Amino acid sequence: MDATRSCPRPDPIPNPAAIAPLLLAWYDSHRRALPWRALPGEMADPYRVWLSEVMLQQTTVAAVRPRFEAWTARWPDFASLAAADEAEVMAAWAGLGYYARARNLVAAAKVVVAEHGGAFPQDEAVLRTLPGLGAYTAAAVAAIAFGRRAVVVDANVERVVARLFAIREPLPGARAAIRAAADRVTPDARAGDFAQAMMDLGSGICTPKKPTCLLCPLDEECRGYREGAPERLPVKAAKKAKPQRHGTIFWLQRGEEVLLVRRPDKGLLGGMRALPTGPWGDEPPGLAGAPVDAAWEMRNATVSHGFTHFDIELTLAVARVQAHHADDGLWWPIAALDRAGLPTLFAKAAAAVTRRDG
Ligand code: ADE
Repeated sequence: MDATRSCPRPDPIPNPAAIAPLLLAWYDSHRRALPWRALPGEMADPYRVWLSEVMLQQTTVAAVRPRFEAWTARWPDFASLAAADEAEVMAAWAGLGYYARARNLVAAAKVVVAEHGGAFPQDEAVLRTLPGLGAYTAAAVAAIAFGRRAVVVDANVERVVARLFAIREPLPGARAAIRAAADRVTPDARAGDFAQAMMDLGSGICTPKKPTCLLCPLDEECRGYREGAPERLPVKAAKKAKPQRHGTIFWLQRGEEVLLVRRPDKGLLGGMRALPTGPWGDEPPGLAGAPVDAAWEMRNATVSHGFTHFDIELTLAVARVQAHHADDGLWWPIAALDRAGLPTLFAKAAAAVTRRDG
């Protein structure tokens, strides 16, 4: 036999058993230093792991870093968060979006203190019973904070696994196959490092548009790379167009103060301080739902914002009053609005008014 002729590799590509050793060796020299991560060989603080994982859902590492530092300086552990004023917590979350996450952080901290002696449970199934801990967060905390074997699949991991196994079924239908494949490559030991290595690989090398496969420690094991065009994976089903909704934001000014309300706990932006709005519907509602009778001036200015299930365009209405008792709201100094913790949508509206009038 001609020994120089290359012969086909006998094992399947990828060979699931080969993935973890290659990836962990790469992680040992390429891991990102992040404020919630333990140093090599140390165990991470479960509170910091949990908080970071919740903040990182829907938010980039770059945006989370400073918010994480500020948050942990103020509420460094479960006990301090459990005792925190919820309105302050909601305000501290302003701009990160998906505000139910913040309310659930306080609720979960209370359960940890009241029912688990102030220490996070380690078991993935028990973690899932805490408010706000879904499959992803419970798996991430079990693996990263406690070294338990858990299959951690976020969008980065989804992309890496879809490429490794050349899973061509479109998302979201492919989720079950991707999860099963991720399970096959997850090691028993160092499951937390493995999960974070997958995330680092996904964010730095196996990127959505232009993966740098030549730098990838898994290139030889990657079926997507072998077959060409890994950047086309994972395939995503066409997105449905989001409905467009309309509303009015009411800027009611009394001297140098503006009327704020606290949104109802249930529903969108629940529990957040906000500017009053009327109903949100298919057509611009004009002055319907104004907080008071006043000489409202509809401005030729709109604020647009995308929510998960719809986009909204809000028109600004502005009025001044001499005296008014804010039964359902509070008068807030305009100069200190940046400390009100307004969600982005309302911060944009405030900026639009103060830019013009200020
Ligand atoms: N994204 C979500 N969790 C992460 C983590 N622990 N490290 C880096 N990126 C992440």
